[in-house]
Amino acid sequence: MTVTISPVPSIHPDSQPVRFTVGPDKSILHRILILGSLTRSLIRIPIGSIESLSHDVLATILALESLGVPIEVTTEQIELQGVGRHGLRAPGHTINCANSGTTARLMMGLLAGQTFDSALAGDSSLSARPMKRLADLLATMGATIDTSGTGTLPLKIKGRTLHAENIILPVASAQMKTAVLLAGLFAEGVTSVREPLQSRDHTERMMEAFGFGIEYESGQPITLDPTIEQDLEEEFEYEVPGDISSASFLAVAAVLLRKQIVITNISLNPTRSRYLDILTLMGVDLEATQVREVFGEARGDLIIYGDRVEQPLAPFEITREDVPLLLDEIPILLTLALFAEGTSTVRGARELRLKETDRIHQLALQFRAFGAEIEEFEDGLS
Ligand code: S3P
Repeated sequence: MTVTISPVPSIHPDSQPVRFTVGPDKSILHRILILGSLTRSLIRIPIGSIESLSHDVLATILALESLGVPIEVTTEQIELQGVGRHGLRAPGHTINCANSGTTARLMMGLLAGQTFDSALAGDSSLSARPMKRLADLLATMGATIDTSGTGTLPLKIKGRTLHAENIILPVASAQMKTAVLLAGLFAEGVTSVREPLQSRDHTERMMEAFGFGIEYESGQPITLDPTIEQDLEEEFEYEVPGDISSASFLAVAAVLLRKQIVITNISLNPTRSRYLDILTLMGVDLEATQVREVFGEARGDLIIYGDRVEQPLAPFEITREDVPLLLDEIPILLTLALFAEGTSTVRGARELRLKETDRIHQLALQFRAFGAEIEEFEDGLS
């Protein structure tokens, strides 16, 4: 994860509130690049600086370029010319997803229903992560995806005509959900997806904003009718809000340093902001201001009153239902829990063991090294 801080402040306990910006939200950026490629629009995405683009997003940009999507990245913006729903072409080489699980899984969904074959690979860490459960799910729609013998990258995708299915996701995973919905854009019939728990809903929101035939309502299966397509404006600009996950590190730093900070223009999507509820439960005063909706996504400024934190910080309990809504913030919340009075617990987070590292085990190891008393469970720790 890349966190860009500008201007670089010197944090002193008596100084004024410090304003921060963070780089563009990675999840939203992957999606606008992929879904934007399937439109016929010229899309300009301002970026603060090239350094604010994560390597994962660069992997998606390179993947789309190899599929024939014209993309130009300058120091100020990404400019992408959509090629239309059926405009992708065969890549001349294996697509390298580097370390990006989101790129690999979203590409699996995008490429399964194309008229050409393709292949995906990744670095050694990504090549140890499970891909077979998604390949098997897409196979129920007619996809042919051959993984390595251990169910991982590298994998080969045979382009096929897909058919719609009623898919039940085995785990709450936004990457899996998005892969199925992308495949659904190239399937015959109406695809439906049910997830065991709500996961981040950027794909649903963006598909709706782009005029794709998606319908979604909390607690109900998502449906996608691929025959529905609306023309977007020929050219438009979309400023991706700041990454709410990157902001979590600054929020925790503000609490530990007893400092008031403002993080401007960040995503406040409710399926990503559960960690703010946990911070509030711990006794942190915070506020979202200037909240507005752009392209179906809430954004605003987040004020963390680290200087008003009641002593001592209260411990928390993160349950299975919370997990998909604060997945990537669990490590930093647990870090703050080291400074709380009492035992904090996370359960229902088995998926964290399947990330770029086994995040549960690594946290347990590191926290023990600092002298914390840690009990490790199969699905979490306390
Ligand atoms: C992401 C979904 C989450 C998250 C990852 C980004 C996405 O993963 O951890 O950083 O953009 O869809 P899962 O889909 O594995 O839960």
